[in-house]
Amino acid sequence: MKVLVTGGAGYIGSHMVRTLIDRGHGVVVVDDLSSGHRDAVAAEAAFVEADVADGVRMLALLREHGVEAVLHFAGKIRVDESVVDPATYWRGNVTASLALLGAVLEAKVPSFVFSSTAAVYGDPETVPIPEDHPTRPVNPYGDSKLTVERILSSYGVAHGLRWAALRYFNAAGANAGAGLGERHDPESHLIPIVLDVALGRREKVSIYGTDWPTPDGTCVRDYIHVCDLADAHLAALEHLTKGGESGAFNLGTGRGASVREVVEVVREVTGKAVLAVSAPRRAGDPPELVAGVERAARILGWRAKQSDLRTIVADAWLARARLPG
Ligand code: UFG
Repeated sequence: MKVLVTGGAGYIGSHMVRTLIDRGHGVVVVDDLSSGHRDAVAAEAAFVEADVADGVRMLALLREHGVEAVLHFAGKIRVDESVVDPATYWRGNVTASLALLGAVLEAKVPSFVFSSTAAVYGDPETVPIPEDHPTRPVNPYGDSKLTVERILSSYGVAHGLRWAALRYFNAAGANAGAGLGERHDPESHLIPIVLDVALGRREKVSIYGTDWPTPDGTCVRDYIHVCDLADAHLAALEHLTKGGESGAFNLGTGRGASVREVVEVVREVTGKAVLAVSAPRRAGDPPELVAGVERAARILGWRAKQSDLRTIVADAWLARARLPG
């Protein structure tokens, strides 16, 4: 199948491109390189440096390459930034998606898979969180992703677009064998930060809050291997192509790990000392986010296979140690 991957030079997108190519699909990557890395894009993929918001360009690309499905990863991803600069999030996540979707409809591309987030739920009332849990995002980032989900739903009704919104929990790990890894600048995610302490690139990791209502007082998250995420996208694509129902799906493991557990696993896996210090809570952090995973299993036939925390950390460690310090 011929697939257009937006944001294919980014962390999750670049892993997706590798997986698609390994499974024999044709791939066109669109990325403006505002946060992605050109060298993360598999050589077998066609690469176009462009902004997804350029609808005219997107339409031309979809037609030129005979694209049969779009996987839309490109977007803004920082919760804290979205709070102080919401316009960038409405533009980068909503306006850009509208432009891309206009082109998708015009070119009659039947299937669309969207990178959504657990942030659509806000502060959950129940954990694990099922997809029909109320969606009340607590920051513009989550709000912008939920808005795109709503646009997709209305386009499904009006135009017959087949879509899946994949709500990622905490993407982590790497396909180190393919030379890929997590390279955000600045880095704010827990696992790469703790690995940098193990590598001696940082002095310490601050644990944001040790008095949360969780078993060890630190926040609990559902870490999901980026290669499992890529497999879930393939499953969603196959489901839509077969005419399966559109909708939103959580992508997680159904199990949580605390910040302290992550630090401990990094110590075990790397054999290095990691200095971790207690710090105040970070604004906007819910204490516990764990995915309900039954819907993806039942409808997409997908479950995480390589998201054991030790595997995630070991793979992320291999990739991180190779990055220039
Ligand atoms: N944390 C620390 N110290 C750090 C960094 C993180 O204690 O230096 C803690 C955070 O407070 C949080 C946990 O580690 O409890 C995980 O934090 P991350 O920043 O790695 O990930 P988040 O859970 O904040 O964010 C992720 C995605 C977002 C998404 C969100 C859903 O990265 O895109 O889940 O709420 F919006």
